[in-house]
Amino acid sequence: MEKQVFLITGGSSGIGLTLADLLSRDGHQVVSLSRSREKIRRALDQYPHLLGKVQFVTGDVTSSEDMEALFSQMASDYGMLHGLVNNAAVLNKGTLETISVPDYRFTLDVNLTGPYLVTRVFLPLLAKASGASVVNISSVAGLKPGTSIAYSVSKAGLDMLTRFLAGDLAPYKIRVNSINPGLVKTNIHLDNKVVSDEAAYENMLEKARKRYPVGRIGEPRDIALMARFLMSDDASWITGSIIPVDGGIMVENDLIPPKETERAPPL
Ligand SMILES: NC(=O)c1ccc[n+]([C@@H]2O[C@H](COP(=O)([O-])OP(=O)(O)OC[C@H]3O[C@@H](n4cnc5c(N)ncnc54)[C@H](OP(=O)(O)O)[C@@H]3O)[C@@H](O)[C@H]2O)c1
Repeated sequence: MEKQVFLITGGSSGIGLTLADLLSRDGHQVVSLSRSREKIRRALDQYPHLLGKVQFVTGDVTSSEDMEALFSQMASDYGMLHGLVNNAAVLNKGTLETISVPDYRFTLDVNLTGPYLVTRVFLPLLAKASGASVVNISSVAGLKPGTSIAYSVSKAGLDMLTRFLAGDLAPYKIRVNSINPGLVKTNIHLDNKVVSDEAAYENMLEKARKRYPVGRIGEPRDIALMARFLMSDDASWITGSIIPVDGGIMVENDLIPPKETERAPPL
């Protein structure tokens, strides 16, 4: 397989880090962008073999200056970009009345304006690859309301960005798709203080497990495998698609009475 170049925003943790590992094992060049050195250190503790394999860089997806500096660096190092994964996001809880206006604005800035900005800056490198792919990591919370108004609105907007760009960038042979994960075990809930501690997080996961039709919540690999597929030539006829990868939570139907038998083991 031809060695390709990928940029993953939020590639130092959770889904982005697992995808960086997968693509790097495939022999590709991966650039992983995130803000803090601390999460990069944590990533390398978890995956020491990625040292020197994945290029971890610091920068903020909401900063034009950071993105333009990274663009210049990658233009000179690689000259083209085969895949961009807009994966970086923040998460918070809150309804219309309980979220603060600065938190609402911040969430939309990172989760929605970030992907717009990064895609805009990197367009010339994506166009050079002829057949590049953009994958936006959205959420089922963008398809039906979740526990954060800002997060749900940001992800619903991201899905429209996907649809819009699929048409807009098709002349450059760039495909654009969304993956909408259900609940996946990563650091997002603890790092963003959506839950207070490990015990509260485990409690949340246990409750969720019972609701998921396939009988388990997601692993980062479940999402990373779909992203890898969407960026491969096997997906060359897929663009503008909004794809839930969610253990069936979007088709959960609590109007059907529970079965008499014990619940089947996970699929
Ligand atoms: N886990 C789930 O249950 C779940 C469900 C549905 C959708 N998703 C989506 O999946 C994606 C990945 O989530 P995850 O669970 O893997 O999250 P995670 O473990 O918290 O990782 C998020 C990554 O984004 C980076 N990041 C955050 N803000 C950034 C910014 N402004 N600029 C650059 N990097 C930034 C973080 O590093 P720094 O903080 O150091 O920047 C980190 O590397 C997100 O889009 C999320 O919304 C997750």
